[in-house]
Amino acid sequence: MSRTSIVAGNWKMNLDRAGSIALAKAVAAGRAQAGGVDVVLCPPSIYLSAVGDALEISAGVSPAGVGLGGQNMWDQPSGAFTGEISASMLVDMGCRYVILGHSERRTLLAETDELIASKVRAALAAELTPIVCVGEQLAEREADRTHEVVSRQVRGSLAGLTADDLAKVVIAYEPVWAIGTGKVATPEQAQDVHALIRSLLAELASPGIADGIRIQYGGSVKPGNAADLAAQPDIDGALVGGASLEADGFLAIAAAFR
Ligand code: PGA
Repeated sequence: MSRTSIVAGNWKMNLDRAGSIALAKAVAAGRAQAGGVDVVLCPPSIYLSAVGDALEISAGVSPAGVGLGGQNMWDQPSGAFTGEISASMLVDMGCRYVILGHSERRTLLAETDELIASKVRAALAAELTPIVCVGEQLAEREADRTHEVVSRQVRGSLAGLTADDLAKVVIAYEPVWAIGTGKVATPEQAQDVHALIRSLLAELASPGIADGIRIQYGGSVKPGNAADLAAQPDIDGALVGGASLEADGFLAIAAAFR
């Protein structure tokens, strides 16, 4: 099956309002160079509205074909959860996507697979596409535990999903030692784990459904290494942090996945 690649920019806690608007407009203006690839921007939640306006998002779609996503959400629909936002609030702001279980949230905010799975179910119920992040720490890779850790995270973070649900999910494999370090996984290291994830998805859903699920790589993706990653059979896009803060570089990465 040919999968439509998806390249998402995770702006993390960067930029200000004016900078967010300018970057979104620059990505929209150059987006045509990455035709055939799904392109998504995930600004800080406080700027979703400004970025959605800059992209002229209406009913979840922007004229230039740039999607909007949240970086996180809570798993309950509403209520006394100070500081949190819900899936329906993201939808209300024009989002079609939400990043869940990013390693920074797993490590800094102690998010568990169980909580992440609950968020994934809530996102799907609101018709958001969850981008579910998994990936091993350096010590785990060095101890040859990568497959064990990633398998546990995939099973745990997707717990309770039906095969139909699984078909709607995007997975991001992000080795934690490669995030923000400039140390990208080799295309072979990445492909090895992507193939593992696809085999797990085949077991959880079916081989046919697993074949259609997009699996992004994340961790120091740059214009200079994107093509080698894109050439791997099971790498279907990228989740880009640092390099997504500059429009030309981000678009060059997206174009590499055409
Ligand atoms: P990076 O971040 O591209 O800056 O390594 C990737 C991510 O955390 O999603």
